[in-house]
Amino acid sequence: MFNIALIGFGAVGKSFVKLLQLKKNLLPDNMKLKYIIKSDGGIYDKDGLDIDEIVKYTNSNNKIQKHPLWSNISFKDMIKNKDIDILVELTSTNIINGEPGYTHIKSALENNINVVTGNKGPILLYYHELKNISLKNDVYLKIGCTTGGALPSVNAGTIDVLGSQVTEIIGVLNGTTNFILEEMIKSNMDYKEALKKAQDLKIAEKDPSLDVLGIDTAIKMAILSKVIWDVDFDFEKLKIQGITNVRKKDLLDNISKKKTKLVGRAYFLNGNFEFEVKPMLLNKDHPLYFVDGKNKGVHYKTDILGDITVIGGASSPLNAAASIFRDLLYIIENRRR
Ligand code: HSE
Repeated sequence: MFNIALIGFGAVGKSFVKLLQLKKNLLPDNMKLKYIIKSDGGIYDKDGLDIDEIVKYTNSNNKIQKHPLWSNISFKDMIKNKDIDILVELTSTNIINGEPGYTHIKSALENNINVVTGNKGPILLYYHELKNISLKNDVYLKIGCTTGGALPSVNAGTIDVLGSQVTEIIGVLNGTTNFILEEMIKSNMDYKEALKKAQDLKIAEKDPSLDVLGIDTAIKMAILSKVIWDVDFDFEKLKIQGITNVRKKDLLDNISKKKTKLVGRAYFLNGNFEFEVKPMLLNKDHPLYFVDGKNKGVHYKTDILGDITVIGGASSPLNAAASIFRDLLYIIENRRR
């Protein structure tokens, strides 16, 4: 049996449920979505929620709080009921203390529940602790969505380079800033105009500070560094520069030969760890030069597998949900064996 609970029901959570409907043929018959939980309650059916009905209900812009099954059921009730195998944790990122995601993920793993999450806060702050609990209890902690959504960055830097040593990670991992920088050139806009366009198109969030200050890129780079190198460091002390001071003229002067992108770079060899995030000019022959629009990219330098670049995975709720769905299928496939 694959009994699933979803906690967090924003744009990505809603898209995830739509994917459960759209890709039903890939899912086993014994998979049930039993819970959708928010901070103020949730809906629960011990026999499995009717996914077609939920999708229809939310497509009509109905509030989940008005659903006939809505009650004050909480995450704690779900843990007590002991009827879940996989938790999909999609509450909002909080990089101050990781809550409420940290408590959800830790408690699920401690109760032998596999976890798939897109929540960067708990993974940034507590990855090693959470990973150790998952290993001890022989359950999965899948975090692909936290480091670039649909871009398969974690898998490319771990599973796909097994046996080699990754020495350097270079990432263009934030779709919003990539879009803004490109728009400044393409549409001859200054930073503020391009940011407004990104917000009007719902690419940038209402409060885009994490993106434009480079913090989102730094979080993703920091998570990749922790996962790939098992390295520990103080996030507060990392060198992080965003795009708020990038001027149109700096970009236009270089349009013919180079592109400015917000780049993260992390290096680790023989205990020597270097890390920076800043706008960088990339030559046409740079592996991440062609990361366009809302796309992202990651480049790994390895000792025996050469250099590997992955590009794509444009930022959007559906693409983020698809990366959650990918991790869910991974667990299901591996548990079936
Ligand atoms: N705001 C991010 C981006 C997506 O623009 O890529 C969330 O990580």
